[in-house]
Amino acid sequence: MQKKQKSTESLARREFLKTSVKFGTMASVASLSSFALSACDSKTDSKDSTNGAQNQGAKNVESQTQISQNKGDTMEFITLNNGVKMPILGYGVYQIEAKETQRCVEDAISVGYRSIDTAQAYFNEEGVGAAIKTALQGGLKREELFITTKLWINNYPEDKALKACEESLRKLGLDYVDLMLLHQPYNDTYGAWRALSRFYKEGRFKAIGVSNFYPDRIVDFCLNNEIKPTLNQIECNPLHAQFEAQKVLQEYNVAMESWAPFGEGRNNMFSNPTLGEIGKKYNKSVAQVILRWQIQRGIICIPKTTRKERMIENINVFDFALSEDDMQTIASLDSKTSLFFNHQDPERVKFLVEIHKDKF
Ligand SMILES: NC(=O)c1ccc[n+]([C@@H]2O[C@H](COP(=O)([O-])OP(=O)(O)OC[C@H]3O[C@@H](n4cnc5c(N)ncnc54)[C@H](OP(=O)(O)O)[C@@H]3O)[C@@H](O)[C@H]2O)c1
Repeated sequence: MQKKQKSTESLARREFLKTSVKFGTMASVASLSSFALSACDSKTDSKDSTNGAQNQGAKNVESQTQISQNKGDTMEFITLNNGVKMPILGYGVYQIEAKETQRCVEDAISVGYRSIDTAQAYFNEEGVGAAIKTALQGGLKREELFITTKLWINNYPEDKALKACEESLRKLGLDYVDLMLLHQPYNDTYGAWRALSRFYKEGRFKAIGVSNFYPDRIVDFCLNNEIKPTLNQIECNPLHAQFEAQKVLQEYNVAMESWAPFGEGRNNMFSNPTLGEIGKKYNKSVAQVILRWQIQRGIICIPKTTRKERMIENINVFDFALSEDDMQTIASLDSKTSLFFNHQDPERVKFLVEIHKDKF
């Protein structure tokens, strides 16, 4: 009985190795297009800024597809402002139960994802770590993976942040993470940033950034820190397009990453008729259209799904390009309103500061 179980395990390991090697090769030939996020004219009005962001996206995609020769299976990369290269599409594990996380991340890696987004406040860093261990044992190289985690608000004062950063590395089973973010713009963000900066200088964080920083916070942070954030992870989806926020990020050379690229399916996102019609033209699903639209705007996406078939669907977005007209049509869906909440709402600030207080 035990023998049978062992041989099943070793068979599974061999299968994983085969897949990993296949995707490892793919990653090494992938396009490493340099994706400079150039400054925009800050004097344009909001309509112009919408067009500017759309046009910029189109230009970027053109150069990327030239390099990647539009191979359907080719990942694209963003070069962060410190030179680190990050896959433009990754896999997010928010709201995945701790006990399911290892299986999900192993599935994601097996179908080609190399970038994984977790956080201290998701309480599943160990599961991500276990999946990374399996992948490395299966033959994947550490440098082929891009691992992001986030420091939670209640860990922000500098001393506490230093310990919490160690704790994340321990839970993930890693010597370094590729990207560490401040999860929210509250509490002692400057103290927390000093802690992240120390790990960055020691090479234990390859890049550091922020999340949920609105334009005013980003400007303040960029102007008052020696080490600038490489990236800001914010809500973005077709109904909350964030053109103005993207423009400010471009001005400060901070990459934009979208959380909840599907808006978690709110407002009937997956059955939106406009997105459905556009999808039909390219023989693509609504989910694929949404991801492609953000990728063409130069936005890093980290969709979440627990289902392997959807993981495959969501990564299959590098073999088509939306026309400029379709990009604009999707842009016109923007309601400029969060599908979730406003991070400046006093009640929400209180909620976020208190929700995990007893756990950190
Ligand atoms: N920094 C922050 O404050 C913050 C906040 C939220 C999220 N995030 C990050 O962003 C990641 C993604 O955001 P999210 O998980 O909130 O939402 P999301 O990716 O926009 O949506 C996830 C939802 O869409 C469904 N789904 C996924 N692919 C689908 C497809 N092809 N067709 C139909 N349905 C599909 C999933 O269902 P199934 O799982 O059942 O397939 C799940 O219900 C998170 O995992 C996390 O890493 C960060």
